[in-house]
Parts: sequence; structure tokens; C-alpha cells
Amino acid sequence: MKVEGVPTRAIWREGPRVCFLDQTRLPHRVAVLRADSVEVMARAIIDMQVRGAPLIGAAAAYGVALAIQQDASDAALRSALELLGGTRPTAVNLHWALRRQRTRLTPLPAAERADAAWAIATQVADEDVATNAAIGRHGLALIRALQPRGARLNLLTHCNAGWLATVDGGTALAPVYAAVEAGIDLHVWVDETRPRNQGAALTAWELGQQGVPHTVIADNAGGHLMQRGEVDAVIVGADRIAANGDVANKIGTYLKALAAHDNGVPFWVAAPVSTLDAAVADGIAGIPIENRDADELHWVAGVDHSGQRRRVRVTPEGSPGHNPAFDVTPARLVDRIVTECGAFEASRPGISAAILAKAGEMRTTT
Ligand code: MRU
Repeated sequence: MKVEGVPTRAIWREGPRVCFLDQTRLPHRVAVLRADSVEVMARAIIDMQVRGAPLIGAAAAYGVALAIQQDASDAALRSALELLGGTRPTAVNLHWALRRQRTRLTPLPAAERADAAWAIATQVADEDVATNAAIGRHGLALIRALQPRGARLNLLTHCNAGWLATVDGGTALAPVYAAVEAGIDLHVWVDETRPRNQGAALTAWELGQQGVPHTVIADNAGGHLMQRGEVDAVIVGADRIAANGDVANKIGTYLKALAAHDNGVPFWVAAPVSTLDAAVADGIAGIPIENRDADELHWVAGVDHSGQRRRVRVTPEGSPGHNPAFDVTPARLVDRIVTECGAFEASRPGISAAILAKAGEMRTTT
């Protein structure tokens, strides 16, 4: 997508280094960071300089390449996989990308591993771009079938599942970009997404950069807008989808799904098949939820009138905080799961069908 009119990816290779946009500096500054070691890459994932399930997967794949170009031994491969695998627990794309690297690299002699690791990382990144374009096409078909309640179509999204959460193109926002491209008059309600404000900072910024009409709302405003007929559909991303169709996504998603259900508003989840985790039978019981530092609640970051970065405390000194970063929306509240292979029911048969469709697609392309 574009940054000040220039096509840009969220992560890319530059010789022996990996470059990525520092998402902790957006929307106030576009800063590119460069990682030359797996340790730097892992730290960037933990600190959320790179974030979003598909992007974390690509960053992890690149992280393995950085490790292996320094030391291609079995021990170094094991330790890179372990380091990266422990960075963030909920997004399953991380483990999917690491598994791809492990499966490809383990049988190879050390001398061949660095080239192969870079090739896999590049493949993960390029596939992500193609996958998101396909999600956009399938999501566009759902958008076209909506009957807008007002003069223009209003969609609501939570967190950031746009191009910044992926290598490029986005998941939940891919259908939005496809719809705008197709000439559909739409507007996006953007949940601020406390505590880290990925909606207010990242989604609003990237929609603005692409010229998509949008309005930032407080996290608690969605239900009210749905009651008043001001939301035609909710579209969000996912960090992990269990075999029964339960969806783990940014904290607060579940409340939006409840409000959508109560108001008859379609609730769609857009994610690549790599976000489906057939090994977790029941999402509520089985998906690990990341608990982050309570300081993310206590302190809010931004810039002051003069453009200086500031962190200000919003809670009383001494009040404890609790900061679960994700929640699980039960499958019964999800109308469609939009993948690169089509839109599926959020149910065991739906998830199996998506996985089978992907396996079939891979057989025909290899
Ligand atoms: O904690 P983050 O910002 O890495 O959270 C991930 C997300 O961006 C969202 O949960 C998103 O909706 C799914 S990733 C496309």
C-alpha cells in the first residue's frame, strides 16, 4: 500500500538485513528499523514494533534467516526457533511460519541453509501479499451483497487488521480497499482499541493514507451505533481460529460481536488459512491469551502540541491493572470467515472445508 503516495511493504529484506516500519512510532512518524540479528527481530516482535498476526509470521520467518546466516548449525536453528516461538503466544501464524522454516531447513546440510532460509522467508512474505488480495476479492463479494441502511455503506472494524498487520494488503481491510477500488461508496468506523490504540493510531493512519473515508470512535461506541442502524457490517481480523470456528482477536472483539448479534448486523472475520489452528478443538478453552504489562493501561503514549513524544499516566498511582490482550469470540456470533479460499461458516465443517480447500489449492500449484 502507499505511504505518502509511495508503495511500501510493512517488512522487506535489504541484503543481510530485514527492514520494517516501526509501528510504535506511527501515526506521528514514519520510521524504518533494520534488524541484523534474530535477537533484534525477536525484541521487535515482543515490543510490537512489528505486530499483527500475519506480519508476526513473516517477521519470524525473516528472523530465522537472520539467525542462520550467522550460524547454520542445528543448535543455532533450535535456539532461533525457541527464541522466536516464545515472543508472543496468541497469533498462530508465528508458529506456522517457524514450522515452515524448521521443516525445510532441518534436513539440509549447514552450507545450504542460509539461502534456503532467506528463500522461505521471501516466500512467506510474497504469499501473504497474494493471500490478502484473494481475501479482498472474497470479502468484496460479501460487501456487494449488503443492503446499506443509509446513503453510504458503513463498516466497523476493531484493532488494526490492515496492511500494517500483514506484509501488504491487510486482512479485514483488504475487502475495504477492494470495495473502494470498485467504486463502492463506503465509510469505516474505527474502534480506538485500547489499551495500545492500534485502531486510533494505525488503522486511522493507513485508511487516511489510502484516502478511505473513516471516523475514529471510542471503543464503547460501537453498540450504540449499531442500535441506530449506522453500521452495515463489522469486519475484523483474527490471531487464531480454532477448529470449532471460535475466533481469538484483539481484546474487545467479543463485545462487538455480541452487539452485532443483538442488532442483526453481519459479523465477519477475515484471515488467511494459516490463522486456522486445527490442533485447538475449542477456542475458548484452548487458545492461549497473552497477558501484557499493565503499564500499557496505566500510561498512554502520543505527541503534545509541539509534536514532542509524551507518555502520560491515566490511572491513580498504586491502582493495579490487568491487561489481557485478546479475547475469544464464540463461533455462534461469527457470520462468515473470509479466507483466501473463499468465505466459510464459522463451524467445524466450515473450518475443515477451508483447510481442505487450501490443501487442494497447494496441490494444484506445486
Ligand atoms: O497485538 P497485535 O496488535 O499484534 O494484535 C493483532 C491484531 O492486530 C489484531 O488482533 C488483528 O485484528 C488480527 S491480526 C491481522
